[in-house]
Amino acid sequence: MFLGIDLGTSGVKIVLVDDDQKIVGSADASLDVMRPHDGWSEQSPADWISATKRAMSILRRDHAHQMMMVEGVGLSGQMHGATLLDEADKPLRPCILWNDTRSHAQAAKLDAIPAFREKTGNIVFPGFTAPKLAWVRDEEPEIFAKVKKVLLPKDYLRLWLTGEHISEMSDSSGTSWLNVGQRVWDDELLAATDLTIQHMPKLVEGSAEAGTLRPFLAAEMGLPGHIPVAGGGGDNAASAIGMGTVAKGNAFASLGTSGVLFAANDAYLPNAQSAVHAFCHALPDTWHQMGVILSATDALNWYAGITGTTAAELAAECGETLQGPSGATFLPYLAGERTPHNDAVIRGTFANLSHDTSRNVMTRAVLDGVSYAFRDCLEALRDAGTELTKVTAVGGGSRSKYWLETLATVLGIPIEIPEDGDFGAAFGAARLAMIATGRGTAEEICTPPAVTEAIAPNAKFEAAYEDGYARYRALYPAVRSILGENT
Ligand code: XUL
Repeated sequence: MFLGIDLGTSGVKIVLVDDDQKIVGSADASLDVMRPHDGWSEQSPADWISATKRAMSILRRDHAHQMMMVEGVGLSGQMHGATLLDEADKPLRPCILWNDTRSHAQAAKLDAIPAFREKTGNIVFPGFTAPKLAWVRDEEPEIFAKVKKVLLPKDYLRLWLTGEHISEMSDSSGTSWLNVGQRVWDDELLAATDLTIQHMPKLVEGSAEAGTLRPFLAAEMGLPGHIPVAGGGGDNAASAIGMGTVAKGNAFASLGTSGVLFAANDAYLPNAQSAVHAFCHALPDTWHQMGVILSATDALNWYAGITGTTAAELAAECGETLQGPSGATFLPYLAGERTPHNDAVIRGTFANLSHDTSRNVMTRAVLDGVSYAFRDCLEALRDAGTELTKVTAVGGGSRSKYWLETLATVLGIPIEIPEDGDFGAAFGAARLAMIATGRGTAEEICTPPAVTEAIAPNAKFEAAYEDGYARYRALYPAVRSILGENT
């Protein structure tokens, strides 16, 4: 038995997987995001621990016998968060999350230093970790002075689980301090934020052992003591491990809180100017590229919230048959955007509303808008030399076939739906634990799920969505221009 723990933004998910990779149990515990100011997004690290305990106790209640047979644990988590610890490993402030854009001025300054793009292969996005430390240095100097370690969210969970400061390559790629081609921390980049390698955890590969479970916690959770914890991965790399997206040519579209178009690569292929992320994969000597949008299901959830309903209900109201582009146009930039604009200040927009714009027209505008944002990611990957011919859909939003048909038509490539099951980040983390404990090689363990259905682009609406995409593209510069030059 193996456990995979995914520390997501909206909750902790734990899966219990048997030696044949069958999920025998899973448990969730939800988490809230605090947004004390526009553009801010924070969580308390203590909440991650209590959510993990809650999910573990559900598994213990339902699968006590199997829990005592666990041989390894893998970790996955929301990326980029800055968890700042003092000399006693106590968090100094709430964690600043991946979708927090307060540090955009610091990010722009760091991004202007050529070494950052040269060594990390990426734009220094405001959501990444380094500019957040620069923000804390500038705005909360008394806290910055006490920082002894900076950990990513799942690595803070590891510290609690094992007592060790360890990270791995895929998640560390999103800090702006890692030399992504060479897979090492970079002194020059750390120095640009007044930090040194002493502030960083030790690095391992995602499929390597990275600490062992502390016996008193194991006893509390109904697990054997001293079991190895694998390096694991950032949630996107871990999902890719779960989906078997490890070889060149394989790709997935993740419709989660954020939206990700992820392509596995057999080499390090940076192309920062296209706003594509080029990161280490969770397996040695492999890398990946991804386009990232900040609000995917988050946009539909927001619209559900203000219309007093649920995302599932809104999606169901669209019916089964694709209706073509909505009459309204929606820009899903509720928290700014990464790919392709790298714009922390831009916000969402509904355009072209009329007296007969119904709730459903606006729902479809949201689904279209997020799909167009994915098209922007597809074009950015194309600019970065990666041509996708099909993608597999994952994430909560992929439960809506209507949305998937919209997306297939907007992208102009088929979308494959995997067989029923949970191949997400928690499952990927469990797979990394299997590899780390010698249960099998990456090739043996990281197989893709069977595909049950492929949703083809709908030829009837291809031209209409192409026009819709052109309207969407034209709207951003128009909205941007009213914000003024200095924002
Ligand atoms: C990736 C990113 C998001 C988070 C979501 O760069 O910021 O996908 O990992 O958890």
